[in-house]
Amino acid sequence: MGLQGEKTAAWFARAKANLVNGVSSQFRYWGDEDTLVIDRGEGAYVFDMDGNRYIDYQCGFGPVVLGHGHPVVAQAVAEAAAAGTTFAMTTRREVEAAEKFRAAVPWVDALRFTNTGTEATMHAIRLARGYTGRDVVLKFEGQYHGVHDYVMYSTAGSPPSAMGSRYRPIPLQSSSGIPDAISSYIRTLPFNDLELVERLFRDQGYSIAAIIVEPMLGNAFGIMPEDGFLALLRTVCDEYGTVLIFDEVKTGFRIALGGAQEYFGVTPDLGTFAKSMGNGFPVAAIAGRGEVIQAWAKGGIAQAGTYSGNGVAAAAASATIGVLSTGEPYARLEKAGTTLMEGLGRICADRGVAAHIVGVPAMFGVVFSEEAPKEFRDAAHHNEELYAEVVGGMIRRGVMPVDDALEPWFMCAALSDEDVATTLTAFDEALAEATA
Ligand SMILES: Cc1ncc(COP(=O)(O)O)c(C=O)c1O
Repeated sequence: MGLQGEKTAAWFARAKANLVNGVSSQFRYWGDEDTLVIDRGEGAYVFDMDGNRYIDYQCGFGPVVLGHGHPVVAQAVAEAAAAGTTFAMTTRREVEAAEKFRAAVPWVDALRFTNTGTEATMHAIRLARGYTGRDVVLKFEGQYHGVHDYVMYSTAGSPPSAMGSRYRPIPLQSSSGIPDAISSYIRTLPFNDLELVERLFRDQGYSIAAIIVEPMLGNAFGIMPEDGFLALLRTVCDEYGTVLIFDEVKTGFRIALGGAQEYFGVTPDLGTFAKSMGNGFPVAAIAGRGEVIQAWAKGGIAQAGTYSGNGVAAAAASATIGVLSTGEPYARLEKAGTTLMEGLGRICADRGVAAHIVGVPAMFGVVFSEEAPKEFRDAAHHNEELYAEVVGGMIRRGVMPVDDALEPWFMCAALSDEDVATTLTAFDEALAEATA
């Protein structure tokens, strides 16, 4: 694509001289000529080092739900930073954040803060194993739960063609450096297949400590759960004494104030939250109910973190949840997202391109395929070259979704009607160019 202007290219050269590949997270590397260096964000926009402005649908891979540099969050964080951020004790701001969290997500009895989604899922899995005394964890193909060793299997980076028979899926290790033995503790299944879940549990249910599931596939187009799928997970967990973990790192505080539990009406035992609860600041939580979350209080299951619940993180969470609790941001996400989902679908139909817009207004995917995807294996039918070309054309027009369709488009509450209209025009022109 060659997205870098002169100054951005110079900054990228400096980045590459000091950071491996010029990035601090591998997903941010788009190649030597296309990896941008960002100067700043403002509301719905990001600006690169050449001053080019982009309407931002990446929103930092999801967290920036209110828009960049939101004044209420920025002020709360500034006050917290000036008051000292890290103490070897519980702080007032942490207590306030926990209260706000529980008011917003009422199924939760108690929680602990941490800093990243990876830490949250790691702790949730250890808690589930410590509570049940079992080792095996079930996850679904195409789901991402962070980078720790226990969940890097059959993620959206794995080729569906190598996942084996759906009746006996092969858990595909997504990275070198993970001991082979860990795969014996992981079972993977295609999403949305009730029969396969029932079959696995009939076979091995009493050895399964936890099901960890993104309630909708936030790392695979935004594929939605079919009716009854999440409810079935709840039922088998109840029957076999397995802990149900909703990984709400992407859905939490985004698809509804109460997250996927509120949206889909199914209640897990544990939930992991991060991204949208801090509008871009590193704050996460492991939340839960009943005996499972209180297993920490009994001792023997390690959980710790020097920076967990620090002042800045707690202030960011309090302020973000406070603004989200007014309901106004959700009305905006809904309006912008619905207009885009309908508009994108219409443009594809008008241009005779088979496409499905999948997900919910706050986060959705654009899939170029004849059939709507129901599970990650359906990614094999998506035309990724066309998608990359279309997104390349949009970026050149100042509109920035991620260039990989597996990563949904994220709405933020700062999007104006004009931004949405500009986006639809850019998509239409880019699609016309790509299919000419
Ligand atoms: C569903 C889900 N869980 C966990 C994570 C890991 O979060 P983090 O990148 O904060 O470690 C992600 C990151 O995208 C995610 O999408």
